[in-house]
Amino acid sequence: MVKSYALYINGEWTKTEEELEVLNKYTQEPYAKVAKASEKEVDMAIEAAHKAYKREKIAPYDRYKILKKVSELLQENKEELAKNITLEAGKPLKQARTEIDRATQTFELSAEEAKRIHGEGVPVEAAPGSENRMAFTIKVPVGVVGAISPFNFPINLVSHKIAPAIAAGNAVVLKPASKTPISAIKLAELFEKAGLPKGFFNVVVGSGSTVGNQMMEDPRINLYTFTGSAKVGLMLKQNTGLNKLVLELGNNSPVIIDKEADIKAAAQNVAAKSYAFAGQVCISVQRIYVHEDIRDEFQDQFIQSIKELKVGDPNDPDTDVGPMISEDEAKRAEEWMEEAKQAGAEVVFGGEREGALLQPTILTNVNNDMKVVCEEMFAPVVNLIPFTDMTECIQEVNQSQYGLQGGIFTQNIDTAFYAARNVEVGGLMINDSSQYRVDLMPYGGVKGSGWGKEGPKYTIEDMTEERLIVMNLQNK
Ligand code: SIN
Repeated sequence: MVKSYALYINGEWTKTEEELEVLNKYTQEPYAKVAKASEKEVDMAIEAAHKAYKREKIAPYDRYKILKKVSELLQENKEELAKNITLEAGKPLKQARTEIDRATQTFELSAEEAKRIHGEGVPVEAAPGSENRMAFTIKVPVGVVGAISPFNFPINLVSHKIAPAIAAGNAVVLKPASKTPISAIKLAELFEKAGLPKGFFNVVVGSGSTVGNQMMEDPRINLYTFTGSAKVGLMLKQNTGLNKLVLELGNNSPVIIDKEADIKAAAQNVAAKSYAFAGQVCISVQRIYVHEDIRDEFQDQFIQSIKELKVGDPNDPDTDVGPMISEDEAKRAEEWMEEAKQAGAEVVFGGEREGALLQPTILTNVNNDMKVVCEEMFAPVVNLIPFTDMTECIQEVNQSQYGLQGGIFTQNIDTAFYAARNVEVGGLMINDSSQYRVDLMPYGGVKGSGWGKEGPKYTIEDMTEERLIVMNLQNK
């Protein structure tokens, strides 16, 4: 039975003439239908957010209570929400369950932060001629936040945009990924149960070229927050004028395995972190730089660890690697590998594809001109790249157009700190892979990986304005 979902606009469940089909990503059969927003519904959603923001200010303690309630509801509905992610995204069930736990954290953290938003004293009286003045800043919401979220974390990356926005007192219009919109609709149900006043959270589903473009051009939106490709991020930057923008874009994450690493621990860690959700995580390991002296040992251990991963049906609670988001995406990854092979790359493990399911794969003999290395692969494919000199290795790592997160495995503290100072990324993990994230930490990249940070405390900085208040004291 294929269930139909409505859009959530101004606190109302809104049906539309056209519907969009959402596939079960493992069977490729229809799983659900969702109302498809036309220009009219996008306009209604933006107007609802704009009016809600102008109409009322939700007090910080009320924001705290609403967000806390949503975090509780996420846990109460964990199994149903996780199963939905598995069906609409093809994410293995155990990773989907982790995603719900993480979203719970994201909401709890945002709830707590709602009570901590404050400005600071400014000592204007220290300036000559201002002796009779006092000043401080307050933090005010930006107004309406336009959020555009990706398919790979249909609840938690939505939460990272919505929960801090509400914590900061903003109203939101969300366009979730059209391949995985049901999680966002379910989140709207939780907000409704938690008592969020109408208009503060609106969900419109449709394609980037219609809904996304309309949002991008609407002057009622004050800040855009986007996670997705560098190409779309650049388009947003070029078309949103002087509006604020938070961009979480791509990466081709590097991990360095030094000759002084714990090789077995590194191999196990990297195997788990390269192929989770079929490599479709912005910080999935993609480039593994391994010291020549330990290359063979690392490769053997790495392959052994990959063989322990269970590949297949994402509904099976033991599965580690499921399908990619679509067969087209798996074919795209296959084409990039084919191109690399024509240019001399070798497949040392995996490489086979069946529908959307691509086996965990290792390539070697690669170079920086190949798409599998220099572009964001977003597939269960990694490159093993040998090196002999750490300084040269880091120079090569930094040739990337991206810089979200990276990792280094080494027991040598000098090497670890050398990497910390020199690898050009937003976050460097020592003795862990690039794919480490907990929801309270600052998360965001440099270079082509975007700007602005996620993590509720940091996002709230972006989603508020600092307003200066100066008092001219009359009593001398
Ligand atoms: C992302 O793909 O950017 C999100 C990674 C995560 O939250 O673990």
